Amino acid sequence: MCGIVGYVGKRNAEEVIIDGLSKLEYRGYDSAGIAISQGKDTIAYAKKKGRLSMLEDYLKEEPILGHVGIGHTRWATHGEPSDSNSHPHLNEKETIAVVHNGIIENYMEIKEMLISEGYVFKSETDTEVIVHLIDKFYKGNLIEAVYSAIKKLRGAYALGVIAANHPNELVAVRKESPLIVGLGEDEFFIASDVPAILKYTRNVYYLENGEVVHIIDNTLTIYDEKKNKVNKELKVIDWDIEAASKGGYDHFMLKEIYDQPQAIKETLLRRLDKNRIICLDDIKMTKEQLEDITKVYIVACGTAYNAGLIGKYAIEKLAKVPVEVDIASEFRYSDPFMDEKTLLIVVSQSGETADTLAAMKLAKSRGARVLAITNVVGSSVSREAQDVFYTWAGPEIAVASTKAYTAQLVAFYMIALDFALKRSTITEDRYSELINQIEGLSSLVTQILEKKEDILNIVKDIKDTTSAFYLGRGVDYMTAQEAALKLKEISYIYTEAFAAGELKHGTIALVEEGTPIFCVVTQDDLVEKMISNIKEVKARGAFVIAIAKEGNTEIAKVADDTIYIPKTDNLLMPILSVVPTQLVAYYASLERGNDVDKPRNLAKSVTVE
Ligand code: G6P
Repeated sequence: MCGIVGYVGKRNAEEVIIDGLSKLEYRGYDSAGIAISQGKDTIAYAKKKGRLSMLEDYLKEEPILGHVGIGHTRWATHGEPSDSNSHPHLNEKETIAVVHNGIIENYMEIKEMLISEGYVFKSETDTEVIVHLIDKFYKGNLIEAVYSAIKKLRGAYALGVIAANHPNELVAVRKESPLIVGLGEDEFFIASDVPAILKYTRNVYYLENGEVVHIIDNTLTIYDEKKNKVNKELKVIDWDIEAASKGGYDHFMLKEIYDQPQAIKETLLRRLDKNRIICLDDIKMTKEQLEDITKVYIVACGTAYNAGLIGKYAIEKLAKVPVEVDIASEFRYSDPFMDEKTLLIVVSQSGETADTLAAMKLAKSRGARVLAITNVVGSSVSREAQDVFYTWAGPEIAVASTKAYTAQLVAFYMIALDFALKRSTITEDRYSELINQIEGLSSLVTQILEKKEDILNIVKDIKDTTSAFYLGRGVDYMTAQEAALKLKEISYIYTEAFAAGELKHGTIALVEEGTPIFCVVTQDDLVEKMISNIKEVKARGAFVIAIAKEGNTEIAKVADDTIYIPKTDNLLMPILSVVPTQLVAYYASLERGNDVDKPRNLAKSVTVE
């Protein structure tokens, strides 16, 4: 996790770095720091526990001038958030400063070795070993010292390094954790992600594992692990900074909820040919290869995993291939059976989630083919995969994922339809009907968003609860899982999702007078069963809010409140039913006075295992 920014140029480095870090707070926000070369053998630095604003306030009083520097926004892994655990970390003489995103797995043994050599540690972080290693190997050449230091490291790291004796230099390294280099006019930037530098340049290099960047004044050189110069292709970012800003909404999350009609459209329409057949350009699997697939795994984390649950449903229903869904951190250690007839589909909004990446590597090593669904072009996941499906949802900044999830669902429906057509498991009529229905989802989502005041009123009634449940059956149970995750992660209300029929086997004991229970009821063949379940929990005092299809008057007779959503094909209902649940979570967080976009203890991009 964590975000890093570095700058070499003529501007005020402090301003550039703080501005860049403010765009990376989604990567972590429990402390922040900055270090700037001062020439004359010194580095000035400041580190503050808390949000970036704490550091900004401090720098208003004590500005740090200079043109070469590095900064960091942290999500704690080793050591609690504190000034001393914040990055940058410096050597004892304070002549070298390092920012790091990732985890050094062998830091304990390195630390012991360094302590035995007399090094004194000021923090509990794994990162501090890096700066002492650079110090140990430093013999007047900064990049050489960095090369020697990284040889000792095991784990994931994106690094930015400056040194007092090299006031016009910055060295950066990437291994497993993301890092880009931005090129301005006579100025250079490094950053964990594009929004950090988009204000200044659109020209970027995406670094590969093992690459080392050396910037001195106006010169940038990129080397590989073996110190050979590398010529890289410059990429031009084609989306705007506006796409990564709030655009008039109070929070990124609300903006991103409202971006969904557009995200659904973009993801679908750009891939329909004139005959309305889906063309998946970046999926190179042939018809023959697809026919050979005997097993599909879908592997992901968090919300992306929840999207995978619906992906399984769509692929099994349409393409008739068995699918298993697993959490990436579990999958890796479960010794899954895979061979060249296995397809692994990974789902990752950021494309940088460490466990998801590790799962891909495992699958590839066993001969499986890997297809990635990701929102970030050029991300690690997209580069590791043989086939890629980009969800064109635009940058997602709020920690709680919304538009990426709905775009992932669209991706799954399209992949399932494409596979089904190639495997001849769908009729042309059904195929066209579903394409038309997917296209119509965008305006149906807009209709749901128009009901936001009604949802706010429901939330006002239940906002003080300590616990809540989401119930559903079939695909509605999968929506319930995403809905529960959303509500708990930003409102901090303890929320669980249950298969409605399973609740009575234990969990119903937790239902008390007034316990809010949201019931997702969109599957026509399961309405009656859900009505029975609603009656069961009502009989025990629950306050039931149903999310049901328009026209379902029976539900309103048993529920305390009903949020009606428009109708579409049963298979596609998850795209609609999740929308009110996103608004429920948003308003619950807001009403409880939480920081909606930056919930406690979380980060958006989890680049540690
Ligand atoms: C974090 C985020 C979640 C996200 C998950 C997976 O936990 O807070 O919102 O779903 O990581 O992230 P990915 O980028 O791989 O989709």
